[in-house]
Amino acid sequence: MSARVDVYFGVVALPPSEWQGRIVVVIDVLRATTSIATALANGARAVIPFESAEDAVARFKSFERSEVLLAGERRMGRISGFDLGNSPAEFTREVVEGKTILMTTTNGTAALTAVQGAAEVVLGAFVNLAATVGVLRSAVRRGLPVAIVCAGSERQFAMEDAVCAGRLLRAISRRLADATWNDAARAVVALDRRYGRDLLACLEQTTHGQALAEAGYRGDLALAAALDAHPVVPVYAERQVTAQGRARRR
Ligand code: MLT
Repeated sequence: MSARVDVYFGVVALPPSEWQGRIVVVIDVLRATTSIATALANGARAVIPFESAEDAVARFKSFERSEVLLAGERRMGRISGFDLGNSPAEFTREVVEGKTILMTTTNGTAALTAVQGAAEVVLGAFVNLAATVGVLRSAVRRGLPVAIVCAGSERQFAMEDAVCAGRLLRAISRRLADATWNDAARAVVALDRRYGRDLLACLEQTTHGQALAEAGYRGDLALAAALDAHPVVPVYAERQVTAQGRARRR
């Protein structure tokens, strides 16, 4: 496959053959990929994404209670009866260390389950930006075409994901100078240049950032803007997300 860089907005239903042989970065800065990176950095064993709360609850029953947590968000709030919502502030070491987290969120986990078939799927956010750049560089060196899926908000374009994607692509742009970039890939680079200088201010101005602040989650914006606070690479394979280099659960 020739060198290609494609960015997609929203949950895209491409046929599995489109993802084949590519490294895919899934980004949901507010808040799923930020929370998952935080959880793994704080010692969670794995995060297993589900599209529906019902599926998460069904799987929950196959675990010992002491080794599992249910995390889920709908309309920004915690799903009733779940242990955790989707605020990165909740995924502290005290709470998550050694646990498997079964998680469902409105956009982020749906984006993950949509990209099955890719050669590699990693999760990006500002909190693990440099670590994600490292993985992308190595993939590009190995000749893998790059796809970035910006999960967005309510399955629509979200500025925070676009700026994060642009920041990633700027960091590897020299290596991709001869690649074919789709329009969205070129656009996110321009958006990062325009809006990415002050990440917290950027997040505070976004539609989803403002909705979170109004819903009582203003503190999450600073956590999501904390560049490289959690230098982990969450890797999605075999239907679970684990930190790169850590053993998977069978
Ligand atoms: C999502 O996956 O839809 C988001 O992370 C929503 C949120 O909890 O802010």
